[in-house]
Amino acid sequence: MQLKQAILPIAGLGTRFLPWTKVVPKELLPLGNQPIIALLVDECMSAGITDICFVISHGKELIPQYFYENPALEEELKKRGKLEMLKQLQKYDAVNFHIVYQEEQLGDGHAIMQATDWVSSDAVAILFGDDLIMGKKTGLEQLADAYEKLPKEKNGSAILCLENVPKELVSKYGIVDIEKDSGDRLKRVKGLVEKPKPELAPSTLGIVGKYIIPKSTFEVFPQLNGDHHTEIRLIDALIRQLPTTPIYGYEVEGTRVDTGTPEGYKKAVQMMG
Ligand code: UTP
Repeated sequence: MQLKQAILPIAGLGTRFLPWTKVVPKELLPLGNQPIIALLVDECMSAGITDICFVISHGKELIPQYFYENPALEEELKKRGKLEMLKQLQKYDAVNFHIVYQEEQLGDGHAIMQATDWVSSDAVAILFGDDLIMGKKTGLEQLADAYEKLPKEKNGSAILCLENVPKELVSKYGIVDIEKDSGDRLKRVKGLVEKPKPELAPSTLGIVGKYIIPKSTFEVFPQLNGDHHTEIRLIDALIRQLPTTPIYGYEVEGTRVDTGTPEGYKKAVQMMG
């Protein structure tokens, strides 16, 4: 099955990047001459995605605007013979962009849920706004390749992007419990724990902002309302699905940077330079 659709939930407040995010979404910070969000869209395109849905909050409209056609600018670039730049701008013409709003920041799962009516394929990629994998292949390309080889299941299956994180940092991640580790990059997940204390973590394999989830996950989000916390989180939906839906993890190759903090962003700038 060729993956076609991706949802990018980017409606968060970006509190770790305040006060900058008071006026400019952190997804528009530059890496080279492109904003971070363009690298995520390029990542989607690298995996063959043609349909992208941004989940934004009010005030973040500049993000989708970056990808819209700008005929006057394109005409001017043509006149000036800046054809390379023109090509860079026009590559997004091949993608269908869609926007939905998350009116209240009630969690990443709640954001993804806002795109339910837009989802038309059996599986959809989810990319959070901060994590980038620097390496030969993009993170999503690696996930999509692994997903393609999985056995077909009635309820579909999910695959999560994993990184082996330092033990003292497990409390910052969703951590997976895996079945017997054969040493392969692909792992079968048997449990998921959100931000455990290091002494309680079942492993040091953390989930890093990229997923392929089956359509069936969208039926689970509404059931999470009224759980012990008010936020609706993707990890909780996947925990609910564990008994019925195979979940895999894929330990990706490359160096991950978390551009969602000033320190992580600085590292990304240095790596890109
Ligand atoms: P984070 O937990 O990193 O939150 O969200 P954030 O707002 O980006 O940053 P901080 O923690 O306040 O500094 C993970 C992903 O989920 C999205 C975020 O935009 C990010 O891409 N998200 C989170 C939403 O779209 N809506 C939410 O209600 C929460």
